[in-house]
Amino acid sequence: LREEVLAEVENAADLAVLEDVRISALGKKGRITGLMKNLGKMDPDQRREFGQTLNAVKDQVAGAIDTRKTALEDAALEARLSGERIDVTLSSRPDETAGRIHPISQTIDEIVSIFGEMGFALAEGPDVEDDFHNFTALNIPPEHPAREMQDTFYLPEREDGSRLVLRTHTSPVQIRTMQNKTPPIRIIAPGRTYRSDSDMTHTPMFHQVEGLVIDKKTHMGHLKGCLLEFVKTYFELDDVPVRYRPSFFPFTEPSAEMDIGCSRKGGELKIGEGDDWLEILGCGMVHPRVLSACGLDPEEYQGFAFGMGIERIAMLKYGIPDLRTFFDTDLRWLKHYGFVP
Ligand code: PHE
Repeated sequence: LREEVLAEVENAADLAVLEDVRISALGKKGRITGLMKNLGKMDPDQRREFGQTLNAVKDQVAGAIDTRKTALEDAALEARLSGERIDVTLSSRPDETAGRIHPISQTIDEIVSIFGEMGFALAEGPDVEDDFHNFTALNIPPEHPAREMQDTFYLPEREDGSRLVLRTHTSPVQIRTMQNKTPPIRIIAPGRTYRSDSDMTHTPMFHQVEGLVIDKKTHMGHLKGCLLEFVKTYFELDDVPVRYRPSFFPFTEPSAEMDIGCSRKGGELKIGEGDDWLEILGCGMVHPRVLSACGLDPEEYQGFAFGMGIERIAMLKYGIPDLRTFFDTDLRWLKHYGFVP
């Protein structure tokens, strides 16, 4: 019996078979266990001798099972590891799975390079702003209704009672720039902005590019010329349908908004003479109070500023009717608009 069981242990091909062998030998109804039960019927001398032998066999079999078990476990682990091994010498996968620059980032790069050609330098500011830069210095004092106009995301109140905000526009970068540089100033500042708003043309997080030019004689004509030049280059069209509407911003005077002509038919958005307009930016001459708040003398300096919606101009260029889809991370969407092959 001993030889028989030991051979079975040795031949067990996997852990499941080995467990069956163990049960059939040492289990409650096992073969060796069965012999143990006979001990009771034997006379004392016989019982001692047989008992010792039986115990030795039992120990030997149990030991053999343990050894075999360890060996089988090692082999299983080895097999798994070699199956999971990464061959770093393999060539990379075909292009279809390669990442691409997101259309918004591409658009930002394009805008920066177009204004770069016109002599604008790049500026940046933080997404989390303080009240002074996002509002007060922009001639939006506390309790001013313009704070309600933009549905601001506030951070929790700090110990001194003040609250930081997620910047509602890129205009705070105007302030940071004028505080730190003396004119002439010519900057653009692209970045993320946040407002509690969502529909076809709004998302809670979106992108703007701020433009600021401060000099001694810069006027509204320069502003219009600069923006017209930009849209022509960006849309690669000689004739872009634009419209300025008088508007109001606390930080510019006079103020205007610029729309691009387009048509929306059957869920399609197309730039060009159509029956519709899409607002792409707000602009105006920097308010004297804003210049003063930044330590610039309004008697000496003047200039213009604009804040353009980046998703908006990308929608027009690629014919994307719903702004929210930029952030759906849907591969089919990227394919549909030709952003990935
Ligand atoms: N900050 C304004 C907005 O977000 C746009 C703007 C920028 C208007 C600069 C005038 C000058 O709506």
